[in-house]
Amino acid sequence: MHSPNLWIALDVPTQKEAEALIDQFHPHRQFKVGLELFAGMGPQGVRRFVDQGLQIFLDLKLHDIPTTVGRTLQQIQHLGVSLTTVHASGGASMLDETVQIGDTAVVAVTVLTSLGTLELDQLGWISPGDLVPRLARLAQAKGLSGVVASASEIDGIKRLWPRARIVVPGLRWGSGGADDHASVMDPYQAYKLGATDLVIGRSLTRAPDPRWAYEALQSYFKENSDAVGS
Ligand code: C5P
Repeated sequence: MHSPNLWIALDVPTQKEAEALIDQFHPHRQFKVGLELFAGMGPQGVRRFVDQGLQIFLDLKLHDIPTTVGRTLQQIQHLGVSLTTVHASGGASMLDETVQIGDTAVVAVTVLTSLGTLELDQLGWISPGDLVPRLARLAQAKGLSGVVASASEIDGIKRLWPRARIVVPGLRWGSGGADDHASVMDPYQAYKLGATDLVIGRSLTRAPDPRWAYEALQSYFKENSDAVGS
């Protein structure tokens, strides 16, 4: 089993704050830039991180008409990011536009882990147990690299798509609370179930001592004989 990628979510509004976080986790190289930071620092900030030798997961969760998504993905790929996201619920034609160009892998968001049963019901969506496999199969058929999914869905996805890249947020360990996630899981347990990529934000970045929390996580994985991230 390969050691998983560990994407630390830089959920801050400015490049300066992002750089301060990156310094705290030195020499970690895998970071996630989401909508907030992308809106705050712009694509040139992403390019700068890539030029510094960081691996960037640009998590913009695209969901638009197929042409717009296709053209936007081309711009994203020019930035040299390693991984990016689209919503599988954008549909088959939109996913057709996610042709892999260069080294940027595209994974599909199935169902946001923040959506609980009540909210899904309000939206008129079927239960995640039925919806996630359906969306995962669509992403697989369209040649994407994998999916973003909650830890509880890993097993089902692995069974229907054994080679999928499975990107898992909503991870907590120790005494961390769930924040706005409907369900959370321990990162080592998620990895053992088959997650290839772990996304961790607040448990590290908002920890009282982020560096200590990062090292504790590394030790936790090493005790179980696997390194995490790079
Ligand atoms: O660990 P924490 O809860 O802070 O991580 C939140 C991060 O995970 C955010 O960057 C959020 O965008 C991301 N996320 C995701 N997909 C989900 C749920 C959260 O990428 N389904």
